[in-house]
Amino acid sequence: MAGSYFLTTAIDYVNSAPHLGHAYEKVLADFFSRHEKSLERDVLFLTGVDEHGQKVQQSAQREGVEPQLFADQMSAHFQRLHESLGVASTHFVRTTDDHHKKIVREWLQRLHDKGEIFFQEYSGFYSVRQEQFVTEKDKVDGQWPEIFGEVIETKEPNYYFKLEPYRQQLLKYIEENPEWIVPAFRRKELLGALAEPLGDLCISRPKSRLTWGIPLPFNEDYVTYVWFDALVNYYSFASVKGKLFWPPDLQIIGKDILIPAHGVYWPIMLFALELELPKHLLVHGFWTNSGAKISKSNAKSLIDPVPYVEKFGPDALRYFVLREMVLGQDADFSDDRFETRYKTDLGNDLGNLVNRTLAMIGRYREGVVPNYDGFHLVESDNGLRSDIYVDEYRAAVEQFAPHLALQAAWKLVQCGNQYVEETAPWKLAKDPAQAKRLDVVLGLLAETVRRLSVLVQAALPFTSEKIRAQLQLFPGPVRIEEALFGNSLKGHAIGKPEPLFPRLEEKPPAAS
Ligand code: MSP
Repeated sequence: MAGSYFLTTAIDYVNSAPHLGHAYEKVLADFFSRHEKSLERDVLFLTGVDEHGQKVQQSAQREGVEPQLFADQMSAHFQRLHESLGVASTHFVRTTDDHHKKIVREWLQRLHDKGEIFFQEYSGFYSVRQEQFVTEKDKVDGQWPEIFGEVIETKEPNYYFKLEPYRQQLLKYIEENPEWIVPAFRRKELLGALAEPLGDLCISRPKSRLTWGIPLPFNEDYVTYVWFDALVNYYSFASVKGKLFWPPDLQIIGKDILIPAHGVYWPIMLFALELELPKHLLVHGFWTNSGAKISKSNAKSLIDPVPYVEKFGPDALRYFVLREMVLGQDADFSDDRFETRYKTDLGNDLGNLVNRTLAMIGRYREGVVPNYDGFHLVESDNGLRSDIYVDEYRAAVEQFAPHLALQAAWKLVQCGNQYVEETAPWKLAKDPAQAKRLDVVLGLLAETVRRLSVLVQAALPFTSEKIRAQLQLFPGPVRIEEALFGNSLKGHAIGKPEPLFPRLEEKPPAAS
């Protein structure tokens, strides 16, 4: 085993159903997880849901059900989406899990014992939507920004976690670890946020105001602030069969939860508990719909991934989001672009190459991949044998650029299709003197299809399996090295081609 790899995603609030933004982040993590598995690493992949807090309590109240029942139903919804998309996490995290609650209480007790947490009466402004106290400094042009929703004045004693004593340590850490936050421009934003002294973090909510949370171990009249509870999940589930995978190699989050949650609270919690920080915080941008952020609070812009999965299949959605979004930046969703990617990249390019290769081997060689060992090869043959695309693919994944990795894989797809056009096997088949040449062409094409089944497995796991089934090969997962050229299929009997991305007559589900 080539070492271990631990990656996480943000855990989603269960106050409403998942949308495309949630689906993207989980697919992205699954892509990296599958890639690491193809490097033979022992992978721990955590994703799941954030179930406590005021928003969930309020949503449950609106529905007239107990928060636990509400959370159970919504969590099942998220879990089903993950399954349908092939998001194969090691564990689906739920913050209502008893083990997690125990760890949160342990952390709080340890911090309390160390004197990091103190009790104080505070009067000030409170954002109901963000579930946090806000100050005059948070106003923009004298107004509370919209993200805070309703802001009320309140006065109550609470427990606070001191952040400021760790600010210099955090600044030093960021300076010394330039790769900690990806992409680099997010690191600059964080440094900016750390230029001023940090206020204390209120980590409790009185039960008189919020009951749906984890009670504080040192005062049961309070529950834990939802962010403190949620962040601990990364540690609660970091052990598998007694093996602790700490620190995380990769933590994937959206740009809205870097500052302050993952860029300030989280590392300071870890400093205070003397735990190592994650190696990378990978910060992705937002999916928008006609320029508007896709969010549960904006019904008009909302995109439900389920109808797309049902109509086009999970890999079509996976491919679209991974290929279209330049990791770190925002990307816009549109039905037209989705349909174009489906028809061209998937149907006409990959699907067609696989289909015609298998069909021609069936037609001209009775379904057996010819052996061309020792036959004369020409320049175009060598182009198809090149490993350059695999190198490019791997380099792109290492640089956290799945869209470039897919571009590299599709260069091999295009190379294969061009090769079919140039060599025109249907013409070679008519001339018995060209039998050896046809063997070379079909052998190389079969090998290209086999290599592609490996190269697309992290992004398109279902398609990869289908290709391998049609080739009558072991289903996978397969080591990435198997994407390298090898003449391994000679004499191998393949199956019948079946369309991977069938043509669809109707329009896709409306995006608004
Ligand atoms: N529960 C917190 C995270 C706690 S992590 C310890 C939360 N939940 S969320 O449901 O609001 O968001 C979950 C993730 O989805 C975040 O990383 C967020 O950035 C991401 N997205 C939400 N909307 C998004 C888009 N429109 N596009 C891409 N991702 C977005 O925050």
